[in-house]
Amino acid sequence: MGEDIFSGKTIALGISGGIAAYKAVDLASKLAQRGAIVKTIMTEHATKFVSPLTFQSVTGQPVLTDLFAADSQGKISHVALSEEADLVVVAPATANIIAKAAHGLADDALSTTLVAARSAIVMVPAMNNYMWSNKATQYNLEILTSRDIKVMQPEVGRLACGEGNAVGRFPDTASIVSFLEDILRKSHDLAGKTIMITAGGTREPIDPVRFIGNRSSGKMGYAIAEAARARGAKVILVSGPTCLNPPLGAHTIYVETAQQMYDAVMENLYQVDAVVMTAAVADFRPSSSGIEKIKKERMPKSIELELNPDILQAVSKKKGNKLVVGFAAESENIIENATKKIKKKDIDLIVANDIASPGVGFGSDLNLAVLINKKGPVGDLITYKKTELAEKILDWVAAHIAVSSISS
Ligand code: CTP
Repeated sequence: MGEDIFSGKTIALGISGGIAAYKAVDLASKLAQRGAIVKTIMTEHATKFVSPLTFQSVTGQPVLTDLFAADSQGKISHVALSEEADLVVVAPATANIIAKAAHGLADDALSTTLVAARSAIVMVPAMNNYMWSNKATQYNLEILTSRDIKVMQPEVGRLACGEGNAVGRFPDTASIVSFLEDILRKSHDLAGKTIMITAGGTREPIDPVRFIGNRSSGKMGYAIAEAARARGAKVILVSGPTCLNPPLGAHTIYVETAQQMYDAVMENLYQVDAVVMTAAVADFRPSSSGIEKIKKERMPKSIELELNPDILQAVSKKKGNKLVVGFAAESENIIENATKKIKKKDIDLIVANDIASPGVGFGSDLNLAVLINKKGPVGDLITYKKTELAEKILDWVAAHIAVSSISS
């Protein structure tokens, strides 16, 4: 049996002021028993429900309640904790701490830890059902999930305020522990692996100011780059021009043309374990592009084109035991066409996406897609948020990279 996933992991456990704070004692205790170093941070209101000493006793670690407390090395404690935590968990999370986290307020030890956190953050809300369904709370939760903060759904049951069969109950310890286990596993299942991702569209110059381009926004590739970083991978992102901020922690190489993208990918191929090619590479380019701007009077009647290199195909020829994932932009017979592409390009997985349906694909936050491996579709053709599709692709990559490194 492998080592417990919690063993040696530092968990910053935030307790905010709700009656479920007493149940979090059991959570702290179970995490500590599994080998986690549980460092509790309590809001002032939380200390009205449970004494800091209780958490200190079950975790064997000091409890932080004061924003300006310094640790033994004289470092401000909440900053040190944000740095060393493998996971930040707020359980119970009240409507108040959810609102503060959504808007970046930092006025006590817990809210400041959340703003300074480097690791994944999990919120386990527990509150009165009217507070839970209040529009402000729901809106704040949407903000948190859009920033990839994981929110565990509260349970339905009898609430401490006397409401029966209402939503807002703190989940049982075992459910929270298994939720955290899943997040922790995903937070490092690509550790030690290097993944190269191509993103965005290419620009093929006609002259120094004009180009042939396409509608790719780069959102899909950037979402995969961010998710792969969060799962512990070293990320090389080869990006065409986009309006997006470079993902934190990724090595981003900017290119414009398909030829430049080809060169950057081939130059870095030797050091990667997997390649995910989301870029919308122009299949062809103008055969010549002068250094002078073409004047109106000299408008050419036609533009002669020549083929660009197929980067995916070139990678697949040199793949060895690297995993190669491609995308297929299709407007009809999606599964059939993508299945042909996976065979023709001899790759491990193809993500077939429908670019013809309204509201999905280029520029959108959504993708209507299906994953297909050499044996056929893995799942159904459904609409994903690009961030969800990124995780789904990386689930597949993580599972298959693991297999290939065992067998090699
Ligand atoms: N691709 C590439 N280099 C190219 C063209 C495509 O690396 N010159 C990659 C894309 O990044 C994508 C996959 O190949 O991962 C499939 O791209 P797509 O445009 O759907 O397919 P094509 O092979 O270009 O076929 P067609 O346009 O005829 O459908």
